[in-house]
Amino acid sequence: MSAPSLPRLAVLISGRGTNLQAFIDACDNGTLPARISLVISNNPDAAGLQRAEVAGITAKCINHRDFTSREAFDEALVQELRAHAVDLVILAGFMRILTPVLIEPFLGRLLNIHPSLLPRYPGLNTHQRALDAGDTEAGATVHFVTQELDGGPPIIQARVPIQPGDTADSLAERVAIQEHMIYPIAARWFVEGRLRLSEHRALLDGEPIPATGIRPWAV
Ligand code: GAR
Repeated sequence: MSAPSLPRLAVLISGRGTNLQAFIDACDNGTLPARISLVISNNPDAAGLQRAEVAGITAKCINHRDFTSREAFDEALVQELRAHAVDLVILAGFMRILTPVLIEPFLGRLLNIHPSLLPRYPGLNTHQRALDAGDTEAGATVHFVTQELDGGPPIIQARVPIQPGDTADSLAERVAIQEHMIYPIAARWFVEGRLRLSEHRALLDGEPIPATGIRPWAV
């Protein structure tokens, strides 16, 4: 009898791919019972493409510059994701604004990580904005993607104290360590069938997840 096939992930990247690496490692060491079927980058120079190649994962560049509209680019992504029969799409530093062309068919199967304590600081330059505001904490949030930019229901959120002398870079480095821990946990919940999106709420084991997401140390 053949082994049951693992859920299939696609990871979409634009840059370094350190979150992609966390997924590669989690799939390899079995803490995430899934396999990455496909990596897509919109940026031909993304270092993450090499990480996929080293791990023997199919990796493609679909350059947004080759398309005349966001919708046409998203349609090309959808075709590729469908061709690989992907169960869950992981946005890991994918720096494109998505349209309904991609969001609708994958609603509830599309996760993002954002480097702030959402709902604070959607958009760019999150760490600098937290420093400028005099915040005492920064962090990262994994959330379901919906039509609202960085506004979908939070799933899990890691908090990092801001230290005197922190810069956006030093903060980003400490937050990234947390990102690499929390993101595969959220994906694990999904592939285990414990996590779902229902009526604009994220549910874990059927219970609504609080608006700030679950704290990882409570896991
Ligand atoms: C991560 O810090 C992620 O939170 C952020 O991009 C970085 C990608 O790093 N995502 C966003 O800003 C999305 N709005 P990585 O390529 O090393 O995983």
